[in-house]
Amino acid sequence: MSLLLAFEDEAGLAARLASALGWTLALVDVHRFPDGETRLRLPLELPDHVALLRGLQQPNDKLVQLLLAAAGARELGARHLTLVSPYLAYMRQDMAFNPGEVVSQRHLGRLLAASFDSIVTVDPHLHRVANMDEVVPGKRGVALTAAALLGQHVARLVPGALLLAPDEEAGQWVRVAAAAAGLDHATCHKQRHGDREVAVALPKHPVTSRAVVIMDDVASTGRTLCAATRGALAQGAASVDVAVTHALFVGDAWEQVQAAGVRQVWSSDCVPHVSNAVSVVPMLAAALRGVS
Ligand code: R5P
Repeated sequence: MSLLLAFEDEAGLAARLASALGWTLALVDVHRFPDGETRLRLPLELPDHVALLRGLQQPNDKLVQLLLAAAGARELGARHLTLVSPYLAYMRQDMAFNPGEVVSQRHLGRLLAASFDSIVTVDPHLHRVANMDEVVPGKRGVALTAAALLGQHVARLVPGALLLAPDEEAGQWVRVAAAAAGLDHATCHKQRHGDREVAVALPKHPVTSRAVVIMDDVASTGRTLCAATRGALAQGAASVDVAVTHALFVGDAWEQVQAAGVRQVWSSDCVPHVSNAVSVVPMLAAALRGVS
């Protein structure tokens, strides 16, 4: 027997996942103390396998709750604990870009590996490491991808679209999407000068009169999408749409992306957002069956 545990703010995704699995769903009861600490209550007598659903967008508070919930679940009987984190945070800091920088990906991975037996996620930002096994050493790491789903969605709505990766790192997702959907693709070159300062150089591949769809793993400040959109429109693209796995869209990102000239945005339901257009629930359910 298996149980899906989730938090109230992800109850919708959790209900869809539990229903796809045919598992019981229970929500963690969270009490917030006035000083910012939280008290968690879990169901009593947990089954052998418990999967904890926690997307790590806006991660810091959630991480503390996650580690506490995992430890509590073990005490209440869970023998195999799986973390289902459709968005796994801290994956982009995968090296010390400047002396003294903490390599968050490595250390967060070890922290999670100490609490969970397996971790299922979608399109983690793996650039300089080959796979999830390197992120969560000694544990089972499963990295799914929404790229093919997004590519097929794009092909249905914009037949003949040119898929554009805004940087070399996004090339991996664009290649998968293009192959799954039979679409053309190309990769830009990006230089980041600050959190919101991004320059994107378009590839030699002609975009003039093409319906361009910019594809990336994550939209955070949206500045990467804005720079790529402006570049494509300046070179005569007929339209620019966007497809991303993780629709974080922090601060004014959504408004900025519209202002840059993006026509439509499609995302997966890894992160709840108005742009959600494809669902990763069936692939999460299949992966969970494989680890339980
Ligand atoms: C970085 O390499 C990622 O793939 C995204 O391009 C990046 O995180 C997007 O960030 P932002 O929306 O803040 O430009």
